[in-house]
Amino acid sequence: MSNNSEEQWVSWMDELAEKDYVIIDDFISEELYRCIMTSFRSLEKEEKLRKAGIGALGEFKIEKEIRGDFIYWLDKDRDQIMAPFFELMEEVKEKLKRYCFISLSGSEFHLAKYPAGSFYHRHLDQFNNRNNRQITILIYQNDAWKKGDGGELRIFKEGEESVLVEPVARRLLLFKSDSVEHEVLTTNVTRYSLTGWLLRQPASLGYLLG
Ligand code: OGA
Ligand code: NI
Repeated sequence: MSNNSEEQWVSWMDELAEKDYVIIDDFISEELYRCIMTSFRSLEKEEKLRKAGIGALGEFKIEKEIRGDFIYWLDKDRDQIMAPFFELMEEVKEKLKRYCFISLSGSEFHLAKYPAGSFYHRHLDQFNNRNNRQITILIYQNDAWKKGDGGELRIFKEGEESVLVEPVARRLLLFKSDSVEHEVLTTNVTRYSLTGWLLRQPASLGYLLG
C-alpha cells in the first residue's frame, strides 16, 4: 500500500478525469523500484524478454517498424517477486473505481525494455479486434535518465500542444486507453518501463497479442 492520503487520491483522480491523463512523481518506493529492476535483471539473464509484436512470425518485420521494445508479460502467480507491485495496483484500481466510477475487471501488465535506437510510433492502446483496455498504467524505471537520453513519451492532445513525459524513475503515468494517442520517442539509452492496462473484461487475449 502507498501512504497517499485520500485527498491526494481525489486530486489525482480529478486530474485524470479532467485531462485524460495524470503524472504522479515518486509514486513507487525505492524498494519497489529495486524489486522491479531485480526482475528486469533476471529476465535479461534468462533471456526471457521477447520482441513485442502481434501474432505470426511473418508480421514481426512490420511490427519492428512500429515498435522496437522487448517485453515480458507478468503473471501474478508465477512472478511472486512482483507481489508488492500487484498489491499497489489493487490500490490504484480501488481508487479508480471509487473516485472515477470506472468499472474494472481484469488487468494485464508487462515489463518493457527499449534498446538504444528503438521507439514506438504514435498509437492508441486499442486493437481493431479488441477494445477492452480502459486505463493505461506506466511506471518508469530509469534512475539515471537525463535530458538528451531520449525515450520521452509524447501525449497528443486534440487542438492543443502535445505533452512530453520524461521516463524518470519511480514516476507513474495513468491515461485513458481509448482516447489518448501517444508515442515513445527514439531512446538513446536502454529504457525500462512497466506497462499495464486495466480492462473492462477479464484478461487473456492480451497474452496472445503480446
Ligand atoms: C505501450 C506504450 C509507452 C511507454 O506499451 O503501449 O505506449 O512509455 N508504452 O513505454
Ligand atoms: Ni501505448
